[in-house]
Amino acid sequence: MKFSLVLLFTSLFCTAHSQTKLPYQNEKLSIDLRVKDLLGRMTVEEKAGQLNQLNGGAFTGPALKDEAQKSKMKLVQEGKVGSLLNVIGTKETRAIQEYAMKSRLKIPLLFGLDVIHGYKTIFPIPLAEACSWNLDQIETNSSVAAKEAASAGIHWTFAPMCDISNDPRWGRVMEGAGEDPYLASVISAKRVKGFQGNLKGNENVMACVKHFAAYGAVEGGREYNTVDVSRFMLWNKYLPSYKAAVEAGAATVMNAFNVVEGVPASGNKYLVNDVLKKKWGFKGFLVSDWSSFNEMINHGYAKDSKDAALKAMQAGSMMDMESSASYKYLPELIKEGKLTLAQLDEAVGKILYYKFKLGLFEDPFYFCNARKEIQNLFTDEHRNIARQAAVQSIVMLKNNESILPVKNDAKIALIGHYAESKEDMFDFWVAQGKTDEAVSILEGFEQRFNGNVTYAKGYMPDNTTTETLINEAIQNCYNADIIFVNIGISGKMAGEDRALAQPEISQGQIELLKTLRKLGKPIVALVSSGRPLVLTEADKYVDAILQIWILGTEAGNAVADVVSGDQSPTGKTVMSFPYAVGQIPVYYNHFNTNRPAPSDPGGDWYSRYRDIPNDPLYPFGYGLTYTQFGYSDLRLSKSTMTKSDTLTVKVTLSNQSERPGEEIVQLYIRDHVASLIRPVKELKAFQRVKMAPADVQDVTFKISAKDLSFYDVNGNLVLEPGKFSIFVGGNSRDVTEAVFELK
Ligand code: BGC
Repeated sequence: MKFSLVLLFTSLFCTAHSQTKLPYQNEKLSIDLRVKDLLGRMTVEEKAGQLNQLNGGAFTGPALKDEAQKSKMKLVQEGKVGSLLNVIGTKETRAIQEYAMKSRLKIPLLFGLDVIHGYKTIFPIPLAEACSWNLDQIETNSSVAAKEAASAGIHWTFAPMCDISNDPRWGRVMEGAGEDPYLASVISAKRVKGFQGNLKGNENVMACVKHFAAYGAVEGGREYNTVDVSRFMLWNKYLPSYKAAVEAGAATVMNAFNVVEGVPASGNKYLVNDVLKKKWGFKGFLVSDWSSFNEMINHGYAKDSKDAALKAMQAGSMMDMESSASYKYLPELIKEGKLTLAQLDEAVGKILYYKFKLGLFEDPFYFCNARKEIQNLFTDEHRNIARQAAVQSIVMLKNNESILPVKNDAKIALIGHYAESKEDMFDFWVAQGKTDEAVSILEGFEQRFNGNVTYAKGYMPDNTTTETLINEAIQNCYNADIIFVNIGISGKMAGEDRALAQPEISQGQIELLKTLRKLGKPIVALVSSGRPLVLTEADKYVDAILQIWILGTEAGNAVADVVSGDQSPTGKTVMSFPYAVGQIPVYYNHFNTNRPAPSDPGGDWYSRYRDIPNDPLYPFGYGLTYTQFGYSDLRLSKSTMTKSDTLTVKVTLSNQSERPGEEIVQLYIRDHVASLIRPVKELKAFQRVKMAPADVQDVTFKISAKDLSFYDVNGNLVLEPGKFSIFVGGNSRDVTEAVFELK
């Protein structure tokens, strides 16, 4: 009797108790209060665990027997992991989240993944997408990628990459928005908005601004190499795009691998604490790059893992991706008084904040909806958006005698291993994208030009050629009216650890072009690559060039859309195409130097090469379409403006052809004299303008004083009076100019 009374009492007490939610479990309270309450209940070990991010993998099936996986599950269950990356799909994310629910405080895990240009429906690489200069399209692309990833259990993507780079040797230029700080800023902000939305539902993911900072300046374009930039360059060239993404509300920022001013970015107090947190007021959390805390040892900045954890925390860094330094050593460092609890709480609190914000405390499986994972991935709607994005990413660099678009009944010879090879179509940042689901160029052509396409390989997968392959290609061209040759490099050569000392067209492909040229038929080069290649030699043997980058799932359809004229190419390159490798870095927004080379090459003692021109083969902002546009009558609303004025700039744009067309009108400025030197041109605004045949329109821009300012070495915007030029045109080279004075 006595025994059963005790039982009854215990069970009543437990039921009542489990119904009273602890403050951190109460969704009616503010997130800040919930975070505070939870922090108050956590041990130092559990807090350090929240800063631990591990590489995931599988947690079901055979993985259950794997020792490495078992030890991760154990750590999760002990509350010693805050996040996992690379756990794919609702089944796997659910399985490991179950372990987190067995931990003392049941703090859910965050799942991160590199969703760089799509999850299952693959979009053009970010560099290509940027060539559309279509901000709405870019935002849509990111929101589709987010919807697919979130429907598959992912909370967080490691994108956008906001690194500015002038170096096509660097494989990672494919992940960014090119060489211009202004364009990269507006694009990065849109990508953040597209990924995150309002971060309320389970169809958005957190964005991660990377790699903070200046990773695009690696010496020689070599991955993981040294960076040495002055504060002048840091503020004016490298930092603006990260800042724009942070201001767009990015939840997270990733430390870069490189050093800045001799200090690794993960341990760099100036970057993390002074700039990101204090000056920019970043409220989200930081994650290291892969093992970048521990790699401070290799840099010669930390003596061991414990020292690395200390230095990272002292700089203000937070989550530790794959170093396992934080969760192992932070408790010790706190005990030794080297770090304060407040420092730890600040970092942990920010991470918990986003776990609450994403609704994971209410439902840790909120993103693990297997039905959504089936319904929302690779839909027709997403594929159509990807096709449109791919069309807009194509840049037509050359179109002599208007050989494109091809006539409807033209007989087409398509040559090139890449036109057929699906495995070369993608880079490795494609999450769950499958190359066999993608449309190759050959398939796209066959579908669009049914019966009128013949194909030959032309060169080997390693880009060399043989007499037999060349002969087959020639045979294939005999009956053709026009020849398309898909040259370039494999998609697999784009991305991390894909630095190339010679980003060029191979000798085998050049030989193929040279031979085909002798047939006297029009030749179009379709250039596949995740970066601008040196096209100078190839250019000699072809009548037209379409830079088709890495276009994703719908590549073949998009190229056929453009080649056939069903759609017009409208892209403009966001990186200069070098004339020769030795010219790299070559970029439009360079400085004038003390000895600028005259356009007439005569004379001596100028800043120039003796063997090649200074200018790139194709400049930033360049790209043709099927219509010709004329620019005239550039006029300014005033010839002097004050710091509180707005200047109105008008230019008359005419469509000189009988096709409707779309032009990306670009506005650049030059500040002629300043306390810190300014580039010869700086993009400040652009507009996409649709024009009916023979249409004439005025295009209007408003320029405010802020557009004329630049950063001093302390990161403050300064505005100095003096002479300015305004340039307007269809690329950074061919522009009309007007001058005014800022009083
Ligand atoms: C890359 C990051 C990436 C991370 C996670 C690193 O090696 O530099 O850009 O987000 O791995 O995959």
